[in-house]
Amino acid sequence: MLRNEPSLPGGLRRCIVIADTWGKPMDTTGSQEPDAAAALRNDLEAFWLPFTPNRLFKRAPRLVAGAKDMHYFTPEGRAVLDGAAGLWCCNAGHNREPIVAAVARAAAQLDYVPAFQFAHPQAFALASRIAALAPGDLDYVFFCNSGSEAVDTALKIALAYHHVRGEGARTRLIGRERAYHGVGFGGISVGGIASNRKFFGTLLTGVDHLPATYSREHQAFTAGEPDWGAHLADDLERIVALHDAATIAAVIVEPMAGSTGVLPAPRGYLERLRAICDRHGILLIFDEVITGFGRLGHAFAAERYGVTPDLVAFAKGVTSGAVPMGGAIVRRSVYDAFMRGPERTIELFHGYTYSAHPLACAAALAALDLYRDEGLFARARRLEAPFAEAAMTLKGLPGVLDVRSVGLAAGIDLAPRADAAGARGYEAMERAFRDEDLMIRITGDTLAVCPPLIATEAQIGEIFDKLSRAIRATN
Ligand SMILES: Cc1ncc(COP(=O)(O)O)c(C=O)c1O
Repeated sequence: MLRNEPSLPGGLRRCIVIADTWGKPMDTTGSQEPDAAAALRNDLEAFWLPFTPNRLFKRAPRLVAGAKDMHYFTPEGRAVLDGAAGLWCCNAGHNREPIVAAVARAAAQLDYVPAFQFAHPQAFALASRIAALAPGDLDYVFFCNSGSEAVDTALKIALAYHHVRGEGARTRLIGRERAYHGVGFGGISVGGIASNRKFFGTLLTGVDHLPATYSREHQAFTAGEPDWGAHLADDLERIVALHDAATIAAVIVEPMAGSTGVLPAPRGYLERLRAICDRHGILLIFDEVITGFGRLGHAFAAERYGVTPDLVAFAKGVTSGAVPMGGAIVRRSVYDAFMRGPERTIELFHGYTYSAHPLACAAALAALDLYRDEGLFARARRLEAPFAEAAMTLKGLPGVLDVRSVGLAAGIDLAPRADAAGARGYEAMERAFRDEDLMIRITGDTLAVCPPLIATEAQIGEIFDKLSRAIRATN
């Protein structure tokens, strides 16, 4: 007996059938009934969903059982337009045949090999491809499995870099308010979201934060980078004066803060940060977990802004979301600093069991081929203007406080309900999914739209039409 059966939508029982017939053709007719054992295994109770109100979700689950290109398919066979590239990751669209085939081939040929003391050829091929896409002398790639690990890897390399050069007093890390750098202790320490920090103790010590770059007063309804706000980079000079440059290892920023609502760097901001870091021997890290692999119309946002950081954290789009993978790209000078001393010594005491996993490498190489062969980064550049225009049609809807867009990403702030922060955003997401067959992303009362880069202009129009109806329905 399903514990929460009474309030389940009709699709759930059919979903159970699908889950139990995985690998066989999908039955979306609902003609089969699950046996009791299958029902027990799938009563929705055991899975503790991340960043989700679990009890609310389990009362009325939003389930997805398949995907292709721009669409998800629910267990009952509804096609849901993907306005969020999964979770900012499926940049080439879903279940693309070359990626599926590459992963299947890899799984059959080499399931696993350690990256400690051993390696497989595709890991080197992929590192070379990623280094070639990255600007300047960002020439070396350290692999991990997620954006959170990528951030922690970049922070650790930055700390160790100063240590191996004899500047071990440089231990401070500078993040930014409203930043999201994943959920590792490093990431939440330099991150700037109170609810991601306040439950978890003292975090890393010696961390300071730049101010957030968003101001509704100065930036509302901006398409592209806002003109106001470059001066906020100068706050780094205040932090340097307070702590002394000799104690600061690195500054980490997202070139465009995605998770907190699409906040692009103000014009000139990143250049100013770069100059201040250079003046004081501080490493600059770009967290490109969202902006990497095309979201802003380039392989990396560093290229869009003409600013080369010392390290780049990446994940998500590297495999188009098909297999977990992340990593840190580092400049030659950073890598070289470690390549001293006797050759027998391990240069960096860091790594993961699944660093450069063969399935992830295969998925990434196939995804990079698709990005290249279909010109998807240039496509995102071409679509930026019509996308922004479509996003701005939401301006003037009741309860819409701001719409921002950059590349193929838009953030929409809704007016919070009195005493119920986040309720309107949640309702908009829920209505979009159930009533409009559209998947979007929310953070509180802020909505994000970031479709796969294969979206057509017509599909972009469809996304914002659907979203407009969902937003209206929340009023
Ligand atoms: C900028 C940024 N950094 C890090 C992360 C964490 O990535 P993951 O969820 O793969 O750990 C995210 C996830 O959205 C992100 O947007």
